[in-house]
Amino acid sequence: MTQTIGIIGSGLSGSGLARLAVAAGYHVVLSNSRGPETISHLVEELGPLARAATVEEAIEAGELVAIPLPLANFEALSAGELAGKVVIDQTNYYPSAGEFRRADLDAGELTSSELVQRHLRDSKVVKAFHNLDWHHLSFNARPVGDPGRTTLPIAGDDPAAKELVTRFVESVGYDVVDAGSLADSWRVEPNTPIYFWPYAPTIPNGLTEDEEKKYYLEHAGEPLSREKARELIDKAERPSPIGGTLDGLPPAHVAIFLELASAGTWQR
Ligand SMILES: NC(=O)c1ccc[n+]([C@@H]2O[C@H](COP(=O)([O-])OP(=O)(O)OC[C@H]3O[C@@H](n4cnc5c(N)ncnc54)[C@H](OP(=O)(O)O)[C@@H]3O)[C@@H](O)[C@H]2O)c1
Repeated sequence: MTQTIGIIGSGLSGSGLARLAVAAGYHVVLSNSRGPETISHLVEELGPLARAATVEEAIEAGELVAIPLPLANFEALSAGELAGKVVIDQTNYYPSAGEFRRADLDAGELTSSELVQRHLRDSKVVKAFHNLDWHHLSFNARPVGDPGRTTLPIAGDDPAAKELVTRFVESVGYDVVDAGSLADSWRVEPNTPIYFWPYAPTIPNGLTEDEEKKYYLEHAGEPLSREKARELIDKAERPSPIGGTLDGLPPAHVAIFLELASAGTWQR
């Protein structure tokens, strides 16, 4: 069984994944671009199963290596150091959020995870944990048999790598549905039915802004069965334009996100 998860990126989604993994008893080795000393507070909060390290150390230690960093920075990942690794791709294409824009992604010639796989040519990339927000990533996790347990999609080209990631996702609190290959993964990208909304609560009308934020943080989305998740994937139509945007997401989510995304790091 996988014991240690290396994490490259310790912002919102990286720390969400770390919380989830530590709660399930995994060791996590967290890294970022600025160096281990800048995430000592996070590691302290996560407890003895977590440690801060350089990117190289996180790769070395991780039986699975997650890459929750801006897609814009994918070329900073070392294909050589990640060779042979199963890589969990949490990234999404948000061309509206910053400077990063690619004609091939905009034209749908390839998915963002195919782009990552093309760069990490000797790794086995599996898209997972990308389609729900950082808070509900850990908040929605439930043990097997719990009526609130929901389902996440994964996608990838290597069956053994998908199996490994499926076992990991299941062990941290989610059922899994196979959304197909990396080429198929547009079906689970931003603006598709299984992206974001099934995992976030419906906020009741009539709340103040602060009450909305509290409600958002204290509730999960309605659980998705595997069958329902499969239906959402099957009925996806290729979004046009391609790529995510913060427009249209619940104001409470956007407000909390903007408060936390300190100094615009998310946009790089
Ligand atoms: N936010 C969400 O709810 C959410 C949910 C699912 C998926 N995602 C996806 O996850 C990715 C990250 O989003 P986020 O919201 O977590 O962003 P974030 O809070 O800004 O965190 C990004 C992290 O990536 C690190 N990083 C950037 N470039 C790096 C590099 N070259 N080497 C090592 N670390 C690097 C940053 O390190 P420094 O701080 O040192 O610069 C930071 O720790 C995006 O692709 C996003 O679409 C986000």
